Amino acid sequence: MNNFLIAPSILAADFARLGDEAEKILLAGADVIHMDVMDNHYVPNLTMGPMVCKALRDFGVSAPIDVHLMVSPVDRIITDFAEAGADYISVHPDATIHLDRSLSLIKSLGCKAGLVFNPATPLDACQYVLDKLDLILLMSVNPGFGGQVFIPTVLDKLKTARNIIDNSGFDIRLEIDGGVKLSNIADIASAGADMFVAGTALFDEDDYFKAITQFREQIEKGAHQSLSKKPFKQ
Ligand code: DX5
Ligand code: ZN
Repeated sequence: MNNFLIAPSILAADFARLGDEAEKILLAGADVIHMDVMDNHYVPNLTMGPMVCKALRDFGVSAPIDVHLMVSPVDRIITDFAEAGADYISVHPDATIHLDRSLSLIKSLGCKAGLVFNPATPLDACQYVLDKLDLILLMSVNPGFGGQVFIPTVLDKLKTARNIIDNSGFDIRLEIDGGVKLSNIADIASAGADMFVAGTALFDEDDYFKAITQFREQIEKGAHQSLSKKPFKQ
């Protein structure tokens, strides 16, 4: 397993050939499939449901599926995605009344639990649920659409989240989502992300292998810069 995970968002894929596209981008070196689930209530867009997750599994996708629920209320759909084959299920704190209960439900179903922060949402909501988290996802665009521009203030938020995770002692992935491109991914890695969602920056490319290889080179470059800046712990 790679230490840094690349998670293409299938929202940007050709939906008429979704299974082929998912298989192709995984064969090109991607690690995880990111599924953007939108309900036209929590966000002003409507995308896909559990049946798409099941269809990918039935097609033969065995890689982890990272379900990003932009849905409210969210508890009822969590179970459907777990049964459809999701590995990660991530929720927004403002999309559920009882966050601890929603995260506990995800864990009880054998899935990894993620907490998603919109660009303006402070990180406070993770304080009393760190023990239930496998993933913190920072949105670097306002949720609802692919192809938006990366919000650079999220880089400082990534650094703060990285410190929270490192000081927690828990094994929690730090994922970035929205406007991630070859031009900014080294800075994102340097700020502490270790899981990278990208939709248009990958699916708009003709050569997925080249795109993912370039992504990984830039991620390693950024992570190396970050290590060289860290004070050496005796
Ligand atoms: C936005 C989604 C993102 C988006 C990423 O609400 O959560 O995953 O699809 O697409 P790009 O990489 O094109 O910004
Ligand atoms: Zn997403």
